[in-house]
Amino acid sequence: MGSTENGYSSERRFGTLAVHAGAPHDPTTGAVIAPISLSTTFAQTSVGSPVGLYEYTRSANPNRDNFEQAVAALEHAKYALAFSSGSATTATILQSLAAGSHVVSVSDVYGGTHRYFTKVAAAHGVHVTFSPCIELHVEDLIRPNDTKLIWIETPSNPTLGLVDIQAVAEIAHRHGILVVVDNTFMSPYVQNPLDHGADIVVHSVTKYINGHSDVLMGVAAFSSESLKERLTFLQNAIGAVPSPFDCWLAHRGLKTLHLRAREATKNATTVAQTLESSPHVISVNYPGVDSHPHRAIAVKQHRDGMGGGMLSFRIKGGQNAAHLFCKYTKIFTLAESLGGVESLCEVPSSMTHAGIPKDQREAAGVFDDLVRMSCGVEDAEDLKADVLKALDLAVAASKATNGSF
Ligand SMILES: Cc1ncc(COP(=O)(O)O)c(C=O)c1O
Repeated sequence: MGSTENGYSSERRFGTLAVHAGAPHDPTTGAVIAPISLSTTFAQTSVGSPVGLYEYTRSANPNRDNFEQAVAALEHAKYALAFSSGSATTATILQSLAAGSHVVSVSDVYGGTHRYFTKVAAAHGVHVTFSPCIELHVEDLIRPNDTKLIWIETPSNPTLGLVDIQAVAEIAHRHGILVVVDNTFMSPYVQNPLDHGADIVVHSVTKYINGHSDVLMGVAAFSSESLKERLTFLQNAIGAVPSPFDCWLAHRGLKTLHLRAREATKNATTVAQTLESSPHVISVNYPGVDSHPHRAIAVKQHRDGMGGGMLSFRIKGGQNAAHLFCKYTKIFTLAESLGGVESLCEVPSSMTHAGIPKDQREAAGVFDDLVRMSCGVEDAEDLKADVLKALDLAVAASKATNGSF
């Protein structure tokens, strides 16, 4: 392979691509960093003859183009399209399906994706069947002629279960069905779903790609010409596009993704091992350690078997202890979202997953005592000390309230 559609040699390695793909020097000033192109419209010399490549910023903008080229390079795709949020990316892909289409999805999708599938797509005649074990059941769930898409999120949120993308893609492709993978939790540094047979990879850029908790954005990457034609049309027609400023910021964030993803994985591994050896912990979900039930998939599908920066665990002492743990941590901030340089923690049953009925939640492993953690890039030893202290305090305080357990 040499140079690609996205204009940068695919022979380069990840860090080089992260820094240089979609980042040309300004041809007139030599500026190493692209200026932010705020103009909404671009001059034409005669009707239909724009001065440069651009006409109107919803259709295309220099900063969005640069960002899209960088993501395409990192996801081993020919093309990428950016949207105003991860949710807008999902919505645009679902809107590309005709009424009457059917989708098979993993059960443990992000709550907003579940909401879109069940409350919005359904109203437009697109119906989604959810499967808790998609590798085993996908063949039986496919409806000949109607099933158009299979939607995978791996790892799942918040229990960090993994799906074998290649196994699902082989079945899907036998039936002429496209596979979409939401790769938000792993980022392109840890996992490249197109290499395992997926047709489209989507991200909430808001998380690892931007990485600094200051931009809301989404992106889809793929290599098919027909997808490019259809999704580019919808990107412009629906208009859920990011601002030039957000594209510029997210592109700046992306340039250090490899450094952040490595540190986050190192930190999450330390925290997972700390939790596993604590008497206050019932169980730990982290795909980077050998105790994880899907570790073999992580080894096959993730760069160097890395586990990424996300983990979850069950604390002894029930919901009260889970809430107290998140209150007592000093470095981990109690907040939703993930993938930033700063470490965060939350209680899914009371926060991100509170809308799911308790029986369904618990069937998926989301118990009231589950804590989800996003490890940032602080020092591992400080994160470890923060977790150990908060565990001691939370379990002691909840014992005092609940009696011993
Ligand atoms: C896995 C996953 N996909 C999609 C989304 C939606 O992204 P956004 O918040 O950028 O709309 C999120 C948000 O948390 C997410 O975690």
